[in-house]
Amino acid sequence: MVHTTALFAATASLLLSNTVQAEGLYTKNSGVLQITGMDYDRVIAKSNYTSIVEFYAPWCGHCRNLKPAYEAAAKSLAGIAKVAAVNCDDEMNKPFCGQMGVQGFPTLKIVRPGKERGKPTVEDYQGQRAAKAIVEAVKDKIPNTVKRVTDKTLDEWLQEKNETAKAILFSDKGLTSATLRTLAIDFAGLISVAQIRNKETAAMETFGVEKVPTLILLPGGTKDPINYEGEMKKEAMVEFLSQVATPNPDCPPAKPKKSKASKEDKKASKSSSKFSKASASHKSADASSAAASAKSETVDEPVKAAESPGANLKDEDAPEPIIIPQEETKPTIPLLAESSELQSSCLNVKSKICIVALLPKDDTSEATASALASLASIHKKHDAQGSHLFPFFGIPASNPLVPLILAELKLGSEEEVHLIATNAKRGWWKKYSGQGFGTVEIEQWVDAIRMGEGKKEKLPDSLLGEEKKAEVKEENVADQQPIKIEVEEIPDEDEKSQHDHNEL
Ligand SMILES: *[C@@H]1O[C@H](CO)[C@@H](O)[C@H](O)[C@H]1NC(C)=O
Ligand SMILES: *[C@@H]1O[C@H](CO)[C@@H](O)[C@H](O)[C@H]1NC(C)=O
Repeated sequence: MVHTTALFAATASLLLSNTVQAEGLYTKNSGVLQITGMDYDRVIAKSNYTSIVEFYAPWCGHCRNLKPAYEAAAKSLAGIAKVAAVNCDDEMNKPFCGQMGVQGFPTLKIVRPGKERGKPTVEDYQGQRAAKAIVEAVKDKIPNTVKRVTDKTLDEWLQEKNETAKAILFSDKGLTSATLRTLAIDFAGLISVAQIRNKETAAMETFGVEKVPTLILLPGGTKDPINYEGEMKKEAMVEFLSQVATPNPDCPPAKPKKSKASKEDKKASKSSSKFSKASASHKSADASSAAASAKSETVDEPVKAAESPGANLKDEDAPEPIIIPQEETKPTIPLLAESSELQSSCLNVKSKICIVALLPKDDTSEATASALASLASIHKKHDAQGSHLFPFFGIPASNPLVPLILAELKLGSEEEVHLIATNAKRGWWKKYSGQGFGTVEIEQWVDAIRMGEGKKEKLPDSLLGEEKKAEVKEENVADQQPIKIEVEEIPDEDEKSQHDHNEL
């Protein structure tokens, strides 16, 4: 077994450097708040709001599948809770993702304020990956500080700190909606919020309430109550209550930076009093608050960071983030030059999935370098995560089996790179037919294989050697187990019922 020669390495490193800074999955216009390990502490951990955070990698198929549901959830939770995402493929975020105990993608965690400020409770979200389920799970975690009152307790509540403002919602519901709970958080210490049922007739009469829901603001002191006439929507309700008090900021303000982003920062802190706007201001992606306390005490999973935790955490005074130096040695994949190596690794009745790049004679071609570099970087990624990805091999044209494989699988020219997946144990193979050999395209293909997707073709027995045929048949009958998928798969529920559940 030889390893990739220096011949490839030079070209490969060039190509590889383009793939280091992976594009995030969510665009700037997405309702999903894109955060880094640096933002987490300020924006999520120190927030009075409840958040859900997705830890993802852009190349992961399940992450891409989750995207529409996650964006729908973000829309539905706007102003109620934060829906955030961390790209763990970004070198900057890797130590943070490790600290958070992320073992696979996507990982969803619900983060809510703990008893102590800045020490949130972090729990894995294990529910369905559908918008509705996510929305309900997050709403469920929003703390409830709304006082429940009855005819009997109304006077007592009204007399409590009677100079401060109060708001009371008359409702036919026993439960307190996420919207009202969030309003109480927005105005904590400023406006006492209560809820009362419409069966409490004395109270209904006292306030002259005829329909539910009705929200009444009691400005405090001797000022007259004010009936809310607008829609029962979070933002409008905040505005209504804002006439007596400015809502609390949901999280500490971004520290001003000297960099070019300072203009955006100003915008962000100005609007940070209003959560809905603060959430929209995530473009500023502030990096000033170090994620030193990101390793929340309530994260109970073991830390499995490939890099030393905190290696790239930014000092508050440092002007630029510390970039982890690129590795000196480029990743490689093994090259199988001998037919026996290929046979024992991929083409015998026991061999499971192999990704095999059949290389042309001209091993200096761009396609060769590109394919090898992409495969190596994909495998390295998985290795770093500790996921057991099937092996990748490069097969030089000098391997005596290459002409036979090209002919039997009708792959065509021996002047080109042919990328195939084989599973000799199950007797199938798949062909990569993407455009070029970039990391993204190949990753998608590899992902599909991991998920058992894509067209399988019958692997000709001739490639397994005459004496193996009988064995193959037996094995196929005996072995009924499905292909093992490494990534847990939760089928998405239909997402058509993702309407707003914030009604009161
Ligand atoms: C508030 O409490 C004080 C003292 O108990 C009382 O004099 C005043 O009338 C109360 N104000 C209201 C609006 O109930
Ligand atoms: C959070 O809530 C408290 C009241 O409970 C408030 O004083 C504070 O301003 C709010 N915002 C932040 C960022 O702590």
